[in-house]
Amino acid sequence: MPSSAAFTRRRGPRFVRPRTPLSSRGVVRQAGGVQPDFGGTTAQLYAKYRRDLPAVQASALAGLIGLRPDDVVVDLGCGTGQLAVPLHPHCAAVLGIDPEPAMLVQLRARAAPRVLCLLGDEHDLPRLSSVCGRPVGAVVIGNALHWMDEAATLEASAALLRPGGALAVITQGPPMWLGTAPWQLAVRQTLEASSGPVSGNCRTDESALDERLGIARGLGLDVQVVSWQAEYVVDVDWVVGHLGSAMNADRWVAAVDDLTGALQAFDGHPMVERVSTTVLIAHRTG
Ligand SMILES: C[S@@+](CC[C@H](N)C(=O)[O-])C[C@H]1O[C@@H](n2cnc3c(N)ncnc32)[C@H](O)[C@@H]1O
Repeated sequence: MPSSAAFTRRRGPRFVRPRTPLSSRGVVRQAGGVQPDFGGTTAQLYAKYRRDLPAVQASALAGLIGLRPDDVVVDLGCGTGQLAVPLHPHCAAVLGIDPEPAMLVQLRARAAPRVLCLLGDEHDLPRLSSVCGRPVGAVVIGNALHWMDEAATLEASAALLRPGGALAVITQGPPMWLGTAPWQLAVRQTLEASSGPVSGNCRTDESALDERLGIARGLGLDVQVVSWQAEYVVDVDWVVGHLGSAMNADRWVAAVDDLTGALQAFDGHPMVERVSTTVLIAHRTG
């Protein structure tokens, strides 16, 4: 069990660019150009406290997409490689694209063979066919589409696919602060006590899925939805670190001691995090 000292070490100079608070994440759209917003210690927290898609799910995803050994896969909004790394054994190469250099530094440090990093965003998609020299087997987007113009991104992704290729939009929810386990209610109460309602769901909800299904169908793609459930026993270190990867850095630093204190009440009882992974798969048929 970590002590709060592990987190208070991060106090001090403002080392992370302030980011969108939890209450409004999921509705903010970034401006057109490359705009770092996940830098500094946030990327370090991502690398440490964001799980890769489990190998068994990555294998299932590759099968559902119909990935071929010679396929190139584009991972848009790749972060520190939560999809790129587990998917790369299933294809020839993964091109991880992200506008935040610090994320790409962390991904490169993982030294996954056949994963290439590209600083960019969804506006670079149309240029990729000339870079790759051929259509791609898949475009995957994990927990990132809500940062983009969704319809334009799905359209540009679909245009890159080979016949039989697919785009896959992966979301994992509910966000930790919206879960219903007692320790998650304590997390939410603690955050709300210091700064008001915490409601952002990063578009992990049904209505976002329905909207995305409608867009994909409108593009003539053959869609299906798959979901997987997983449970993880977590500890205070994981919970506090994971929250730091997801929330405004200043707000997180201010809340670390309170969060740690609130979670100590669950010391000795297993804290179980239930994660539902939803995958929208949309195949190009012709
Ligand atoms: C929540 S992380 C997701 C990381 C990883 N894909 C996963 O499945 O956990 C969101 C990522 O999207 C990136 N991002 C934000 N705006 C973006 C945009 N307009 N185009 C591409 N990526 C973007 C961020 O830099 C961040 O790395």
